[in-house]
Amino acid sequence: MVREDGLFRKVVERRAQVHVIGLGYVGLPLAEAFVRAGYPVAGVDVDSHKVESLRSGHSYVGDITDEQLASALETGRFDICADYNALSDADVIIICVPTPLDKTKDPDISYILRATEGIATHIRSGQLVILESTTYPGTTEEILLPRLEHTGLKVGQDFFLAFSPERIDPGNPEFTVTNTPKVVGGVTAACGQIATQLYESIIDHVVQVSSPRVAEMTKLLENTFRMVNIALVNEVALMCDRLDVDVWEVIEAAATKPYGFMPFFPGPGLGGHCIPLDPNYLAWKMRTLNYNARFIQLANDINAAMPPHVITRITDALNDEGKSVRNSRILVLGVAYKSNIGDVRESPAIEIMEALQRRGARVAYHDPYVATLLMPDGHTLHSVPLDAERLRWSDCTTIVTNHDLFDWETIVTEAPLIVDTRNATRHVNAHGARIVKL
Ligand SMILES: NC(=O)c1ccc[n+]([C@@H]2O[C@H](COP(=O)([O-])OP(=O)(O)OC[C@H]3O[C@@H](n4cnc5c(N)ncnc54)[C@H](O)[C@@H]3O)[C@@H](O)[C@H]2O)c1
Repeated sequence: MVREDGLFRKVVERRAQVHVIGLGYVGLPLAEAFVRAGYPVAGVDVDSHKVESLRSGHSYVGDITDEQLASALETGRFDICADYNALSDADVIIICVPTPLDKTKDPDISYILRATEGIATHIRSGQLVILESTTYPGTTEEILLPRLEHTGLKVGQDFFLAFSPERIDPGNPEFTVTNTPKVVGGVTAACGQIATQLYESIIDHVVQVSSPRVAEMTKLLENTFRMVNIALVNEVALMCDRLDVDVWEVIEAAATKPYGFMPFFPGPGLGGHCIPLDPNYLAWKMRTLNYNARFIQLANDINAAMPPHVITRITDALNDEGKSVRNSRILVLGVAYKSNIGDVRESPAIEIMEALQRRGARVAYHDPYVATLLMPDGHTLHSVPLDAERLRWSDCTTIVTNHDLFDWETIVTEAPLIVDTRNATRHVNAHGARIVKL
């Protein structure tokens, strides 16, 4: 018997119980958006610290303030769960678990597997399951579908299954969950329709595609496009260095072309949970099909060369002052992987600081969003206060992340030497530091 009618009605009337598995950068804002739209929502996370934190009204995700969390909890329609026991009450289950790489840089889908296993033991007729985690094309139909049908239920009839990639851009005040268009691909036509109906109730524009595979590939095209273009402009930066041309001026001039050019900017290296990782999911899948994803390989190589390039810049800048890296005091400004957030996953700052410490430098960092930083060797660094004394103390101040909170005028006035990997000091009129750009 087809169960979609009942589910459709529950979605239209916003009575559908929505369960979000994984309450991180993606899952928490999504859960909050469903609560705001009037749905009863349960968020499930296996990290007991996160569960406790949310239950006590404290959000650890920058895009959700404590006030927003309090409003969601006050509705009485937002439960935070530490296990899957309530999953059989769900009408809709959305998976937002991590998809990292393993030590050999191959996809680690163990989180998806564990979530799927948990769902399979609780699944009942009439439920809609949606995977949002970024993954390789085929995951929904090759991994989730067989496991869920192994229960004896039939997709498109008894339960519904779709893939819908998350596009959230943490820290972006303009584009949020609800005004960023969402792509949806269902395993069957009914799966696609019911998932589209659900998202249309919280998101302004939903784009339904013909299959989960198309939706999975769409996300990977978006992130591979970004990764390859960043690699291109990073290589242009390396070429401009040898040509003694200012790469930032070149990009600014090229960006005046009103068509056919989109500016990307060089930097100290890729970071975050998406751009450095996701294209490798595609490259891995293609290797299983005996195809070598050459652009991704090349982009990986070029982007990986950026942190060592920053080290060379710092070394040369100190050398020009008659100093060596050993025993120099180096202050790193910003350790988050991008501006105005506190996410340090895959941040190039960590590789740069580790390499400087290995060379004998005395490294300190300041980041208004990152109070402590766990280094790969297990020791923890603490953000130092940023004041004139600290800036004067540093033989070299290295700008890795251009947070808006930084007062560039003061930094340029007080620091003797700056290596600016983000062109953050471009509008500063103050004089003082010798500034070396990427
Ligand atoms: N962060 C981003 O900007 C972003 C943007 C678009 C897409 N994505 C994708 O979304 C997915 C989630 O990313 P994120 O940044 O939210 O990760 P995250 O690490 O911030 O959050 C994931 C959460 O899932 C929890 N979790 C892990 N296994 C679980 C399980 N079996 N059951 C329940 N909870 C579990 C973790 O404790 C964590 O709180 C990834 O596939 C990522 O690539 C992330």
